[in-house]
Amino acid sequence: MKKILILNGSPKCERSSTMVVTEAFVQGIESCSNFNSEILHISKLNVKPCLDCLGCWGRNEGKCLIKGDDVSMVKQKILEADIIILSFPLFFFGLPGEMKILMDRLLSFLMPYQGQRHSAGKPFHEFRYDMSEKKWILISSSAWDDLQVFKPLEQQFDCILGEGGYTLIRCPQTKAIVDQGMRIRLRRYLQRYENAGKEFGNNGRLSETTMSILDRPPFSRSVYSQILERFWLQEKN
Ligand SMILES: Cc1cc2nc3c(=O)[nH]c(=O)nc-3n(C[C@H](O)[C@H](O)[C@H](O)COP(=O)(O)O)c2cc1C
Repeated sequence: MKKILILNGSPKCERSSTMVVTEAFVQGIESCSNFNSEILHISKLNVKPCLDCLGCWGRNEGKCLIKGDDVSMVKQKILEADIIILSFPLFFFGLPGEMKILMDRLLSFLMPYQGQRHSAGKPFHEFRYDMSEKKWILISSSAWDDLQVFKPLEQQFDCILGEGGYTLIRCPQTKAIVDQGMRIRLRRYLQRYENAGKEFGNNGRLSETTMSILDRPPFSRSVYSQILERFWLQEKN
């Protein structure tokens, strides 16, 4: 049986609207193949920040010197997984803090920088382990419906995993549609992600057409503006 590991980076844990989308996508994958999935809510883990000692690149070859937290467990689960899904709200055009702290602690996955040259489109660092069969998926939601907000995130992951080394599913306006309680509209919206999950389960990738469907915000600009206006009015009262 193949394994899907979901790392949920939303501080809202089970109440994450991004996770609603992620779960529909995973359901799609599971419906076409023999997969089992596991969710780790990063906010519930004990993850100490990286100390920048570089021991994992030097004297301790591949092993972090910080002991007694959950990072070695997460590392083992990543090594055992076939598909790794990072599910998170976009925070300041990038990863939420706790997810970034976890990522820094995974520096030992990479081989050290020794003055080598970078080849365009490739990851900056080689991996210490054989990751060639693993699939990396990023599912990120944003408040803005302008997809430019994902650019810094894309650039960061192009450097880490290489261009085309991961699938980025951008989910504009997700919190709004999950919170609105429009059941039929939400079901239709989630069907897109379930279908995409099926496609990924069958082909190991998403077509350009599917990506452009997923990029589409659920609300028109004018309806979304009204939703936001109502939201901020309620927040202030
Ligand atoms: C600290 C913080 C930073 C945010 N930064 C961005 C951002 O840069 N761009 C954007 O479109 N939305 C941003 N948002 C909105 C979140 O991405 C949005 O609320 C998210 O979809 C919620 O997902 P969740 O329910 O899974 O936590 C930010 C929200 C917070 C709290």
